[in-house]
Amino acid sequence: MSAAPLPASPPPVLEARSVFRFRRADGREVPIVRDVSFTLQAGEFATIMGPSGSGKSTLLHLLAGLDRPSAGQVLVTGEDLGSGGEEQRAAVRRQRIGFVFQFFHLLPDLTVEENVTLPLRILGQDPRRHRDRTASLLELLGVAALRARLPAALSGGEMQRVSIARALVAQPPLVLADEPTGNLSSKAGEEVVGLLRDVRDRLGTTILLVTHNPRDAAAGDRVLFLHDGALRPEAELRGGPFRVADVFARLQELGI
Ligand SMILES: Nc1ncnc2c1ncn2[C@@H]1O[C@H](COP(=O)(O)OP(=O)(O)OP(=O)(O)O)[C@@H](O)[C@H]1O
Ligand SMILES: [Mg+2]
Repeated sequence: MSAAPLPASPPPVLEARSVFRFRRADGREVPIVRDVSFTLQAGEFATIMGPSGSGKSTLLHLLAGLDRPSAGQVLVTGEDLGSGGEEQRAAVRRQRIGFVFQFFHLLPDLTVEENVTLPLRILGQDPRRHRDRTASLLELLGVAALRARLPAALSGGEMQRVSIARALVAQPPLVLADEPTGNLSSKAGEEVVGLLRDVRDRLGTTILLVTHNPRDAAAGDRVLFLHDGALRPEAELRGGPFRVADVFARLQELGI
């Protein structure tokens, strides 16, 4: 009798393999992202802590397929973003990645509910067929009562909750958040990061948040440190959430 084959384990939700990004500055090619490798498994909530200018946004755009690495590979649920053209990357983005921006990027003429369901329409799905899901997301993020408002009538914290609902509506396995508290008060920022943790706990979404704020970084299960475009894997914190002091201590050890 032959042994049953072992079930294949699913690929990581996100994998960066030796990713580089060069940019031209002052007449020469400068590395903005340098040899970044890491893996996120399903359901992880990771944060990348790095000072301003360390390459966080550049890296996140590469991971989202919004930009292409100069060298190296990015795989999302096993699919190599470099294996096809722009159309393939756009399809992976639409289907597998939700993005949360520092400046919200809500469309001013659409209501909260219309903004949230926009990704469904872009995927060619009828939002009316997903009413229950949309309603429960608006509930989960505490914005159900605001569904008929326009973005101009929302506070910053409310706008960011709406944009998180929009990032989740197509049920992507991965959400990438670039400095999502950068335009919020300290209290609203803390709530938003807490909600991202709730989202992971309730929906199992894999979340990667990049920030220069140690308090936000401390909320991760894992905290990775980025300095001058390179990760410092020896410094990674695992087993969070952490105390803010733990993140500060690591920053001090690294001299960042
Ligand atoms: N289009 C570009 N051309 C040349 N250099 C760039 C370009 N975009 C960014 N850079 C440089 O790359 C570095 C990293 O920028 P990036 O925006 O990724 O940093 P960041 O960590 O997100 O910073 P912040 O915390 O201020 O948002 C910076 O030194 C920046 O000046
Ligand atoms: Mg940035």
